Amino acid sequence: MTDRSHPSFPQTRMRRNRAEEWVRRLTRESNVTPDDLIWPMFVQPGSAARTPVPSMPGVDRLSIDLVVAAVGEAKALGIPAVAIFPVTPRELKSEDGKEATNADNLVCRTVRAIKEKHDDIGVICDVALDPYTTHGQDGIVHDGKILNDETVEVLCQQAFVQAQAGCDVIAPSDMMDGRVDAIRRALDDEGFDDVNLLAYSAKYASAFYGPFRDAVGSAQSLGSADKRTYQMDPANSDEAIREVALDVAEGADMVMVKPGMPYLDIVRRVKDAFGLPTFVYQVSGEYAMLRGAADRGWLDWNKVIVESMVCFKRAGADGVLTYAAPQIARLLGA
Ligand code: PBG
Repeated sequence: MTDRSHPSFPQTRMRRNRAEEWVRRLTRESNVTPDDLIWPMFVQPGSAARTPVPSMPGVDRLSIDLVVAAVGEAKALGIPAVAIFPVTPRELKSEDGKEATNADNLVCRTVRAIKEKHDDIGVICDVALDPYTTHGQDGIVHDGKILNDETVEVLCQQAFVQAQAGCDVIAPSDMMDGRVDAIRRALDDEGFDDVNLLAYSAKYASAFYGPFRDAVGSAQSLGSADKRTYQMDPANSDEAIREVALDVAEGADMVMVKPGMPYLDIVRRVKDAFGLPTFVYQVSGEYAMLRGAADRGWLDWNKVIVESMVCFKRAGADGVLTYAAPQIARLLGA
């Protein structure tokens, strides 16, 4: 690109490489395939039960049996992994979120059911307390403060029960300090040295998580509170590099940037700085924006959703968590 020996116009005509589909294909720098997709799913109690998420049209909360069926669909579409998020009934939530460490909780039962039927697809589980706490925070709260080290201890137990259930990838999304190191040690001590760690390393305190919190019912619990004492300030970029460096030093196998589209600059910096498997989460609010506009006829859904994947790849992402994963996989196959 810095080679100045290239002649300029009219010798150079950039449009030659764009003139026909074959030459566009030949010179394309980024490609999206189903291998790039991770499908996040919401699991709810019950059987044969499906509850739409109003702020995420096209996304349903599914009971375990329907999650297992959806995982079969993911496999058939060539999607390599799914991520499971529980909708915890109110009566199981508590101040300390101890349901997170129940080896028979909804997430653990789901992972077991998936693994019984499909052992050749990756299952990713979040580690954080927000699905289980009455206050909706990701950690243990004392006198209005989110306690770091006490929370990390519980997260280690949560990671342990999930690994025991057969989860392949533990994904800490809590943003407590030192949690990757602690979870790695806890898993290794219990013989789970082959369980992968995908750290939500650069996770921002973003308003784009709104629909997710509706889906799992943590919006009500959180009320007007926020997560700014542990999730990152959207204004910061250098800090993301420090966060990733720490998680890598603590033993993260893969890292994640979240949200996605408004944070592509962070994806690029992280990929360039570390060269690690770097994932990005196209979060609920991003899905809702595209979907909402498409449903009103303002955007062409099939085109914008695939374009958004291309943009993630161009920015350096190795894969994308997206609620549209099955639809994208179908579009790519078409
Ligand atoms: C839980 C968690 C959140 C998301 C993933 N894991 C919400 C939050 O931190 O409040 C957001 C995902 C999305 O918006 O799609 N810690």
